[in-house]
Amino acid sequence: MRILVLGGSPKGESSVTIRYVRYLEKRFPFHGWKTEHVASRIAALEKDEGKFTEIIDEVRGADLILWAFPLYYLLVCSQLKRFIELVDARGASAAFSGKYAASVSTSIHFYDHTAHTYIREVSEDWGLRFVSSYSAAMADLTKVPERSRLDLFAQDLFSTVSSGALMPRRSFPLDVRNGPSAADALREAPPPVSHSRAVKAAVLVDNPDSPAGRMADRAALSLLGAERIDLGSLGLSHGCLGCLKCGAGDCAYTGKDSFIDTFRRVSAEADVVVFAGTVRDRYLSWLWKAFFDRSFFKTHRPSLNGKRVVVLVSGPLTRLDNLREVLSAYFETMEAHVVDFVSDESLTAAELASAIDSAVSRAVLSVGRAREEGLSLAASRSPISFRGVGGMKIFRDEIYGGLRIVFKGDHREYRKSKRYDFPLRNPFARLGVWIAYWFTSIPFIKRGMRENMVSFMVKSFEKVIEGTEPKNAPAP
Ligand SMILES: Cc1cc2nc3c(=O)[nH]c(=O)nc-3n(C[C@H](O)[C@H](O)[C@H](O)COP(=O)(O)O)c2cc1C
Repeated sequence: MRILVLGGSPKGESSVTIRYVRYLEKRFPFHGWKTEHVASRIAALEKDEGKFTEIIDEVRGADLILWAFPLYYLLVCSQLKRFIELVDARGASAAFSGKYAASVSTSIHFYDHTAHTYIREVSEDWGLRFVSSYSAAMADLTKVPERSRLDLFAQDLFSTVSSGALMPRRSFPLDVRNGPSAADALREAPPPVSHSRAVKAAVLVDNPDSPAGRMADRAALSLLGAERIDLGSLGLSHGCLGCLKCGAGDCAYTGKDSFIDTFRRVSAEADVVVFAGTVRDRYLSWLWKAFFDRSFFKTHRPSLNGKRVVVLVSGPLTRLDNLREVLSAYFETMEAHVVDFVSDESLTAAELASAIDSAVSRAVLSVGRAREEGLSLAASRSPISFRGVGGMKIFRDEIYGGLRIVFKGDHREYRKSKRYDFPLRNPFARLGVWIAYWFTSIPFIKRGMRENMVSFMVKSFEKVIEGTEPKNAPAP
């Protein structure tokens, strides 16, 4: 079997993930293995079409395409994303059609599933028969039971490929054509209400001259004094390198481009942030991905605390659950307050204008209401769901459990802001739970508790409701 590994780490051969591939090569030497580091060589592949064509020829000769990538912000890194866009832009996806595919990743299991879903969906759109995904924790390869698990994954994969079986698609076929959009006629819609300059806003867009750019224009029109940021002007083209200098508070790009200053300014000053982008394959553009990846200079510290976020998407968002999930999870982990997503699909220009105006107004009103109540944006943001709560628990455990050796700043910050909220760290709380556990194990107490469980569960809330005062009715 000829296996082509598409290396998806910006670190190329020095990647952790590629070590898993090298292990598999040693275990299964009777297959033909070839690796192409498409992420680390992306600049050359973009410039030199000959080099790109060599890789596509390798694809043609392969039986199995093995995607091998690290997780970068709930997806693949911007460099691999750019390769995927290049394949589409250069009409090379037909070379993949009918081949088998699988994916191997390394990560700390923070949204590894959304990255694998993305790769699976892209593979299925290219006509690949996607077999399975393997998501390893970074250090798994050093553990004997995990190596056995990896062996079994590979054996299952190889036998499925040899069987010639058809693989069922999991995703609905998606044909993203960037044709006319309701956004193109937005300029003809009546102007929106302007909001007070007291609410500071930033409007970010990857391509100002696109339907998403026109949606961003509409949002900026009502946000007086909003800072307009064109991602193309920030110097993001090389993407995050994964060097982890950020662990020591530095970044390989410090002083080399304007991204860090811009990100810091938005995160310090803006109350409302509008993100606008166009769907490319199953995500937004690689430029947006580079923006999110580069925000890792803030490492594992939420940096959009309480910002009111509006996401404007040009493209079929209702058919891209994974995209919505990835963006929602990013913003929730950053502790932002997502007001709404608005897309231009199936809307007239007037409807789109009204949807954008409404989302922006709700964001502004929400800032105003927080101020009236004397609350900070962070204290008044909407509650975070499993996406942010679960994500933060992974960060907390990983930083405490060893990553603090590299990310010392995160450790200090987590300690200071009480993010090390392990259950029952307080000895009195621990003692209280211990006593209650044994007390409620006494047979007659246990029986009584079981019989009164429902009323017992709401008892502490009754007092709160009893003592609740009505708010004044809003002025007419
Ligand atoms: C910019 C950046 C973003 C990351 N995002 C995630 C993530 O979303 N989820 C996760 O579990 N790990 C994340 N990681 C950790 C890497 O996936 C992990 O360290 C991986 O093993 C690196 O593999 P590589 O050496 O092959 O590049 C991120 C690392 C970096 C540098």
